[in-house]
Amino acid sequence: MTSAYDIALIPGDGIGPEVVREGLKVLDACESVFGFSTKREELPYGAEHYLKTGETMPDEEFDRLRDRNAVLLGAIGDPRVEVGLLEFAIIAGLRFKLDLYVNLRPIKLYDARFCPLKDKGPADVDMLICRENTEGAYSGIHGAVRRGTPFEVATQTMVFTRRGVERIIRYAFERAMNRPRKKVTLIDKANALRSQDIWTRTFAEVGAEYPDIKTDHAYIDAACMWMIKNPEWFDVAVTPNLFGDIITDLGAMVQGGMGIAASGNLHPGQTSMFEPIHGSAPKYKDQNKANPIATIMAVSMMLEYVGEVEASQTIEAAVSGLMAEGRIKSLGAGVHGTEELGTMIADRVRSQTPLTA
Ligand code: IPM
Ligand code: MN
Repeated sequence: MTSAYDIALIPGDGIGPEVVREGLKVLDACESVFGFSTKREELPYGAEHYLKTGETMPDEEFDRLRDRNAVLLGAIGDPRVEVGLLEFAIIAGLRFKLDLYVNLRPIKLYDARFCPLKDKGPADVDMLICRENTEGAYSGIHGAVRRGTPFEVATQTMVFTRRGVERIIRYAFERAMNRPRKKVTLIDKANALRSQDIWTRTFAEVGAEYPDIKTDHAYIDAACMWMIKNPEWFDVAVTPNLFGDIITDLGAMVQGGMGIAASGNLHPGQTSMFEPIHGSAPKYKDQNKANPIATIMAVSMMLEYVGEVEASQTIEAAVSGLMAEGRIKSLGAGVHGTEELGTMIADRVRSQTPLTA
């Protein structure tokens, strides 16, 4: 029996459309090898659409997305539009309106050549960062008075709810159950931001329900240091929204750069969104220089999420195999062509034997 999945595409701005195109090339290859199919609808949201119509992404569209299996997003952000306007309306809009409370960011090194850390290899860098994705500093509660005067006051409120904190911590423990090292590290700043005591207590309470999982703790500043000094100490980590944003850019460098770092914005059981963690990189737009591997790995995460686990693993094996053989020489922009990398990975996926001939 073949399954069909309903997928919405938001290629977006800058390099978004070209990296999504390569992601779909690899998805096509997976469909022909593994015998499933996708129904794809491309949505126009992003800078071009906003400049033409004044619309970011309408509420009805978020509602229509609820019936889909997944959303694949390229990148959002354009220098012609006010900073943060589209990012907040579309990326944060998806996260908040679809209640995608997990931002899952795997940090996995496939080849020691791509790690900037001395004497660290794939055995040292294999972690899963679970970033809380619907509250914290991103809750949208902010304001300013006396703007532009010497007496200006600006505020941004961090919001932590018991339900919000508990569900992401629980998700992290569940993921750890299926990993060999079975460890979860809480990363917070509860020594200085005392409201984050809610994370400390909830982590201890939920952790008590998982006696087989080892627990650890690091303040965010120390966690940045350990991630460089001893990345092998991390397995699964769970952290508030803003810290998760910051530490996963650091993590992306440890795994080889923004060219490979992918993420899933999940609400288990509901429509979830997959994207590279890099931005729209306008300077590389339409130059066939952007690395599409992060988006291709986001497609791999999407396939795992919808249940095409074998296809998901085949993409990962194709990428790591091509690295091991030295065919992927660099993860930086401009070394390989965008299309070249997409074709290389799609061809490798196609060379797998179909399961059901
Ligand atoms: C990310 C991005 C976003 C974030 C921006 C574009 C709003 O940096 O997905 O990490 O801060 O979450
Ligand atoms: Mn970020």
